[in-house]
Amino acid sequence: MGRGSGFGKAILFGEHFVVHGVPGIVSAIDLTVDAEVKRNGKGISVRDERKGSKGYTERKKTQQQESIKRMLETMEINLEKISLEIWLGGNLPVFSGIGASAASSVAIARAIAEEFEMSLPDERINEIAYEAEKAYAGTPSGIDNTAATYGGLIWFRKNLSGGPNTIERLNIKEPVEIIIGNTGVVADTKKMVAGVAERKKKNPKKYDPLFKEAERLAFEARKALEEQFDLRKVGKLMNENHRLLQEVEVSCKELDYLVNSAREQGAFGAKLTGGGGGGCMVALTPGKELQDAVAATMEKEGFKVLRTKIGIQKI
Ligand code: MEV
Repeated sequence: MGRGSGFGKAILFGEHFVVHGVPGIVSAIDLTVDAEVKRNGKGISVRDERKGSKGYTERKKTQQQESIKRMLETMEINLEKISLEIWLGGNLPVFSGIGASAASSVAIARAIAEEFEMSLPDERINEIAYEAEKAYAGTPSGIDNTAATYGGLIWFRKNLSGGPNTIERLNIKEPVEIIIGNTGVVADTKKMVAGVAERKKKNPKKYDPLFKEAERLAFEARKALEEQFDLRKVGKLMNENHRLLQEVEVSCKELDYLVNSAREQGAFGAKLTGGGGGGCMVALTPGKELQDAVAATMEKEGFKVLRTKIGIQKI
């Protein structure tokens, strides 16, 4: 039997814009999808025991099957000749927006590699998971699978000419508390990514300045995190990033509600995270006390919240 894991993530800056070559900042979180793979039975069967948003597993079934097929092709494993039993679990809940698909692709790729006794470096696992991500996101940037593979806090820029992407580890003074609030709405990343690309093409006059602004925010945020460790500024930039995401029409009333709730409770900044259209928001809540206060308000209203940190060195 082969085993593998992949990290969940929160994008702090630049989702959607990264697909088009704007840099983004992503933090892996200390929760994983775990996979076990056995050559057994007939065909490919998946036992998905992950917990999370209602309806997520069913809604993603077809994309999941396509992603596994893509993975096996990339790994040059002949689909005709093999039978695989795949089990998925772990402590990363299946909420939209926190990289559950990328984390599962990384976990499965690692587990298959172990089962087939292939010794693959992380770089190759990341490439395989990127191919799998196409089933979930259409034209992914690669930011999610990169965080799922390597962990940590990462500066990411997609190379639009097909060369290697920029992947740089960011070091910050100390880990910082965040919360991730789930709207409970299951979203389709593929549809969201395609929608932005279509509107961008149709309306460059509106979209080009927004993309320029997203680029400026990413660079400022990197400086505020790494050089200045100015968390108030980071929070303000996250708020500005949310406004840009609203303008490119990927937020929704449930996300705006949670973003506003976090800000009202004193979060330094809050924005949607991931593909939007439902899914999750992330709020910067330095210190355990603020983190608990912001989380508790949402939990009282029945929303599911994750309490975690960015910049944990070991992930
Ligand atoms: C999804 O977590 C992030 C998006 O930017 C898609 C991608 O970059 O692949 C929406």
